[in-house]
Amino acid sequence: MHDMPDHSNSPRAQWNSRTGFILAAAGSAVGLGNIWKFPYITGENGGGAFVLVYLACILGVGVPVMMAEVMLGRASRSSSVTAYRTLSDPKSKWVVFGVLAVVAAFLLLSYYSTVAGWALHYTYLSLTNAIAGIDPGQAEGLFGQLTGSPLIGVGWQFAFLVFTMCVVAAGVSHGIERWARIMMPGLFVMIVILLGKAMTMSGWGAAMDFLFGMNWDKLTAAGVLEALGHSFFTLSLGMGSMIAYGSYLRSQDDLASASLATAGADTLVALAASVVIFPIVFTFGMEPGAGPGLLFVTLPTALAQMTGGAFLSVVFFVMLVFAALTSAIAILEVIAAYLLDNHGISRVKACVSGTVLVALFGVPATVSGSWFNAVDHFVSNWALPLGGLGIALFVAWRMDGALRRKEFEAGSALAKFYGSWLWILKYPVPVCILIVFLHAIGALAWIGGLLA
Ligand code: TRP
Repeated sequence: MHDMPDHSNSPRAQWNSRTGFILAAAGSAVGLGNIWKFPYITGENGGGAFVLVYLACILGVGVPVMMAEVMLGRASRSSSVTAYRTLSDPKSKWVVFGVLAVVAAFLLLSYYSTVAGWALHYTYLSLTNAIAGIDPGQAEGLFGQLTGSPLIGVGWQFAFLVFTMCVVAAGVSHGIERWARIMMPGLFVMIVILLGKAMTMSGWGAAMDFLFGMNWDKLTAAGVLEALGHSFFTLSLGMGSMIAYGSYLRSQDDLASASLATAGADTLVALAASVVIFPIVFTFGMEPGAGPGLLFVTLPTALAQMTGGAFLSVVFFVMLVFAALTSAIAILEVIAAYLLDNHGISRVKACVSGTVLVALFGVPATVSGSWFNAVDHFVSNWALPLGGLGIALFVAWRMDGALRRKEFEAGSALAKFYGSWLWILKYPVPVCILIVFLHAIGALAWIGGLLA
């Protein structure tokens, strides 16, 4: 099947197969959240018990919401803003969730590309052997140099954005699906290489204990909420990305199983990344709770001392770049699909104008750490939970019930779970999201203070 030129008045583009969708959706989900953020928050929250709670959040909250989000796209055959209108009424207030999603996509890509640019820079450093033999102080210095020099940071960021733009501009099956078919298997091979090395290291046992030992005493309420919040981020939920990708899914494909497979792939990569990183950290007696610097300071220091470290660091940072790219592609697609569906401009124009705007917002994120943190805080703690809440409430309470059932059951091996899925989406999911949300905005602490 061939991709049609993507004008809003021509037939909607489609994935070539269900596998195409799963690869692209897994590409969206697997990103910096898995390889950069998950290991360091696991480290900060003491490992084991946190990992278990995280798995429960993915399965109990993330997966049901992902099914709902993909459904919104496929049932409406449109992207976030229009999806709400098509499935309720043209003047519906639900549309605010769609608008919020597009705004969130803009903001997310503006600083996601900052970290992706760092990954490109470290790939370059690895290729030129600049991290061979560095000590912890020098590693700090290298990272400081990068974050302290706007030109280098912005340069890599723009290079990353331009590549992302070219892929999305090439269309759904010729661009997004094709690149997912290259990069996702590539990412898998690189993880296997790194896993092979990690298993031979002396810190392997300590890392396994840390990751899979049940140390409940280290788990805090804040840790539980962080796990829940992160399950949204890592599965790319609440931002219309799965709506857009779902809108290209063929109507006979099993939406529920495809969502489950996507979440499964995402979880495997998050665990695999930790299983690669922590043996290295423990072998060299480093600090597992090093925070955001774990990947760009701690890890390069360790790699610099390892036999084969030069090769392994190239593999590691290329893997990080691949993961970031397939995610950035999905974020830009939210923006492109919005412009395509609502303003009838061509895909190429939509991608170019979207990227230019993102780049403008991206400069302050790269130059200023406090701006970066503020935008990240807004997106991760406000926009994504709110977007997810909107999706869950809309699909569970507003969308036409017969259509919802038909979409869930079409060709589905999981059809018999329709009732349980709907119940989870109606009650526990909104309650959980609301709690995360209240916690994130500090309202729980405030209420606690009132009660105390
Ligand atoms: N899931 C991505 C990661 O783990 C980040 C992300 C959040 C995302 N929302 C998204 C990616 C929407 C694409 C689309 O890094």
